[in-house]
Amino acid sequence: MTDGRILSGMRPSGRLHLGNYFGALQNWVRLQDQYECFYMVADVHALTTLSGGDEVGTITNDTQEMVLDWLAAGLDPERAVIFVQSHVPEHLVLHGLLSMCTPLGWLLRVPTFKERLRQMGEDEEHVPYGLVGYPVLQTADIIIYKADKVPVGIDQASHIEISREIARRFNRLYGDTFPEPQALLTDLPMITGTDGQNKMSKSLDNHIELAAADEETAQRTMTMVTDPQRARRSDPGRPEVCNVFALQKVFNPDKTDEIHRLCTTAGIGCVDDKRDLAEGINRYLREFRERRRELSESPERVREILHEGAKRAQAVANATVEEVYVRMGLRQA
Ligand code: TRP
Repeated sequence: MTDGRILSGMRPSGRLHLGNYFGALQNWVRLQDQYECFYMVADVHALTTLSGGDEVGTITNDTQEMVLDWLAAGLDPERAVIFVQSHVPEHLVLHGLLSMCTPLGWLLRVPTFKERLRQMGEDEEHVPYGLVGYPVLQTADIIIYKADKVPVGIDQASHIEISREIARRFNRLYGDTFPEPQALLTDLPMITGTDGQNKMSKSLDNHIELAAADEETAQRTMTMVTDPQRARRSDPGRPEVCNVFALQKVFNPDKTDEIHRLCTTAGIGCVDDKRDLAEGINRYLREFRERRRELSESPERVREILHEGAKRAQAVANATVEEVYVRMGLRQA
């Protein structure tokens, strides 16, 4: 018995970092207890922002690295269906069919598309067709499993909204087929990067990888920006504006009161505080890193898990596509 079915996906971004873990992955792990879960590597979606050539070679490796993180963090192939989007080509079939009943205007108004267009200098001539259709493919990912809920960050909320609209429109045009998927917004504290300013992200290089070695974790932690007004060791610090303190709450929860007292009375300096945090992070990730290392020594095991996941996913996806063919009049019932 479960509370329904979940689908979520991540583009293959290689090794995940603390922000990915606390922003999504940890929640995915928990949801396995409550829902029937489908977790997908959105490798086709990766093609919407890569530009061919050398970059293409990174997708399969990034997939492997990310899935190692997923498994080491506790995604369980016995309980969840873990698979790669392109291994289930039905996603592309449904994407093609849904594109026939999705008004272009909806897609052009999606905030993430407009943002991307701005980044590309409003150069519509060179916007890949697939980028406009990004939310249609994402909708296919979700409704091909008739998922009820989609755990996503707030940045993806507009995509889920359009998925609901596409499902609703399909149902109206061709008869009740799909549940309208609901966003399960992950209300988690944002993890700020080592720069102390921006959300942790690989592209800003302000991140700490889950799989990093202890020394690299310490090195990156030592670069963290603390209270900018605390110029001298003897100045009292302000934990409430300090990113190191925010992370101490996560990684050294038992010591938070003590750290707060020592910081505000200049009893501890930022360097010691950061050294202490690095130890906390490494302790927190010790078992994860051990499991990941073991798994990485048997890549065939990961391949097997993804192969098995694709088979299970495909059984469901294929049935939906057959149903859609009939609904849309391409096959007789
Ligand atoms: N667009 C999502 C991201 O960039 C990845 C994704 C693809 C996804 N398909 C999905 C998320 C379906 C949720 C549901 O993170």
